[in-house]
Amino acid sequence: MFVGKITRMAQRISRREFVKAGTAAGVAAASARPGFAQAPTVLAPKTVKPVVIASANGNKYKNGGPRSAVEEAFARMTRGEDVLDAVIAGVNIVELDPEDDSVGYGGLPNADGVVQLDSCCMHGPKKRAGGVAALEGVRTPSLVAKAVLEQTDHHLIVGQGAQDFARAMGFKIEEDLNTENSRRKWLDWKRRIDPKHYLDPAKRTEAGDRARREMVAEGLLDAEHVYGTINCDGINAKGEICGVTTTSGLSWKIPGRVGDSPILGAGLYLDGDVGAAGSTGRGEANLFNLSSYLIVEGLRRGLHPKDAGMEALKRVAANTVEKRLLNDRGHPMFDLKFYVLDRQGRHAGLAMHGGKEKSYAVCTEAGPQTLACDVLFEEADTE
Ligand code: GLY
Repeated sequence: MFVGKITRMAQRISRREFVKAGTAAGVAAASARPGFAQAPTVLAPKTVKPVVIASANGNKYKNGGPRSAVEEAFARMTRGEDVLDAVIAGVNIVELDPEDDSVGYGGLPNADGVVQLDSCCMHGPKKRAGGVAALEGVRTPSLVAKAVLEQTDHHLIVGQGAQDFARAMGFKIEEDLNTENSRRKWLDWKRRIDPKHYLDPAKRTEAGDRARREMVAEGLLDAEHVYGTINCDGINAKGEICGVTTTSGLSWKIPGRVGDSPILGAGLYLDGDVGAAGSTGRGEANLFNLSSYLIVEGLRRGLHPKDAGMEALKRVAANTVEKRLLNDRGHPMFDLKFYVLDRQGRHAGLAMHGGKEKSYAVCTEAGPQTLACDVLFEEADTE
């Protein structure tokens, strides 16, 4: 008993010594407010090598310009722009690119053929956040989310209210955000599920899921664009962290369905003193587990981004029990990815499954890269 007490005390002392040693080595405690600190105190270097991370589409689309999302965000951030402005300018490239049908303009529409967009953003140093959901008619929902962050006392505005707010803020409202590509794919899906008009609701859902899978198998639909989404997070040399997530959501969703992307703690969470996490993939799994919040709390406990992300994937897997969501090995059949950045500039991409395109985008001084995600289950997802 006595020995046990000494051992625990020794552990506590060695932790304190570790903190002191870290500080002496040029590491500063993050700026937690006295009396409000959330233990344990996070240690952060005084200067950080700037880095931007994103889902893989952050290094794929350029909308006809010279730079991908991570390159644009990195260039702006390192010439002194606010980190949130920089990462949003990055994702705007993908939102506006008609070739990416998972985000913004030309995103795959809902079951009625209407493009409804979700986004949220968070500003680390300012500790502010904003989001919009089920927004119609604005190509860049991330900028409307930023207007919510900057111009209101609220964190989330949805549906018609979000569009009215965007109009009041001077955004152009368009009748229809479909492109020829997104409309053609929606019509193909509609033809498959609705050959003789409406089925009963259960059969209709089943037919809708089957049609989605058939379209992926036939190469008509990019598997990565079923849920779509871009998440982008950056940290500058001062250690300021900001992030944004934006999406057209699940393709052919029930109108009004909102996924994880605009929800703080689900599709995005960050604490400027700790780190950031964002997500793409099956939003329902992420909403149920609030994974981005869970990951940031893992970073707060001192986990490496890879371990914090893996912990969240395991939590999602443990909470997935419905047979329809499991593959023949008893693992979740869907994919979910996390992008994690900590206050020291360390990062990781994590995916529930192996297989094709399990990567994430990074930009540093060395330029843009697409890196492999760490995966929880080696087999490919079957969604
Ligand atoms: N992760 C995007 C969505 O589920 O809407």
